[in-house]
Amino acid sequence: MSEYDIAVIAGDGIGPEVTHEAMRVLEAAQEIFGFRVKRNEFPFGTEHYLETEEIFPETAFEEVKGMDAIFLGAIGDPRVPVGLIEYGIIAKMRFELDLFVNLRPIKLYDERLCPLKDKRPEDIDMVIVRENTEGAYAGMHGFCHKGQHHEVATQTMIYSRVGVERAVRYAFEMARQRNKRKQVTLIDKANAVRAHDIWTRTFAEVAAEYPDVKTDHAYVDAACMWMIKNPEWFDVAVTTNLFGDIVTDLGAMLQGGMGIAASGNIHPGKVSLFEPIHGSAPKHAGKQIASPVAAIMAVSMLLDYLGEKEAGRKVEEAVADLLRTQRLKGVQTGQHPTGEVGDMVVEELKSTAAHV
Ligand code: IPM
Ligand code: MG
Repeated sequence: MSEYDIAVIAGDGIGPEVTHEAMRVLEAAQEIFGFRVKRNEFPFGTEHYLETEEIFPETAFEEVKGMDAIFLGAIGDPRVPVGLIEYGIIAKMRFELDLFVNLRPIKLYDERLCPLKDKRPEDIDMVIVRENTEGAYAGMHGFCHKGQHHEVATQTMIYSRVGVERAVRYAFEMARQRNKRKQVTLIDKANAVRAHDIWTRTFAEVAAEYPDVKTDHAYVDAACMWMIKNPEWFDVAVTTNLFGDIVTDLGAMLQGGMGIAASGNIHPGKVSLFEPIHGSAPKHAGKQIASPVAAIMAVSMLLDYLGEKEAGRKVEEAVADLLRTQRLKGVQTGQHPTGEVGDMVVEELKSTAAHV
């Protein structure tokens, strides 16, 4: 029987509630599909920081490095300075574990979830490959004359040839593997941000190695427009860290909202991190009204990454079936109690997998 070690950081706000349901689904999947997961829970997040002044100690970080995967609920809390916990936990793992791809699937499971008129599930099925260790997130910022009327603030976006190439290559591999439109769209802003020329050139060079995959390009402003107007044109898209952050919130709305969108922060072959893309929503915390579906979809991605492909697919199908049959009315806050959604997914998983 395969055994996996995973780190679980439930985090802030609604993080613990949605993580609880996601872990129940993971447990059910273990029983049904016959593998074992050892969960190592870490208390990091704002509450822990306020109590101990500890964000993510190196000893714990070393332990996490030795795991097969990491699950994160949500991070962020208005009681502490902006970015402190985000950089200390999420960004630390993304950068120091070199999780260079942020994989964000956008898939519509039922047309009632989509705010666009006349778009059906077959029209919305794309994957955004967000470069995850560089760009505007590299932390290279500064201020001078701080607080004075002529203050200057800078933040440098960085793009290395290696960093761009590995994200682009991942996108081409993904397009082959999905075998849908077999197309990769490069989303950049090379007409204004001239440094994006490194994306233009690298994309062309990598594309030449994949003659079976079509290429496409959109400036980020136009990409936002096309994602709404013709989402069916997209298969795999690759983009910078910041643009990927932005277009994936837009993409989440196409599939039903932040209550369903999940992501994987991946370094193939190494410990990788799976999380819902939503934040900690402090105002909803502790009320059992948040949708745990995005966290459950993150478990589906985590299983797929661990090599438990069938379990991953069945978790996704269980959620999709519940939505299609409207037993799960939706993924908005307050539509179902958080725990009830966990119950439904566990039950559905058990019944659809009865003949495994
Ligand atoms: C995301 C989040 C993070 C990001 C925040 C919490 C730093 O918005 O994962 O999309 O900007 O990457
Ligand atoms: Mg974001």
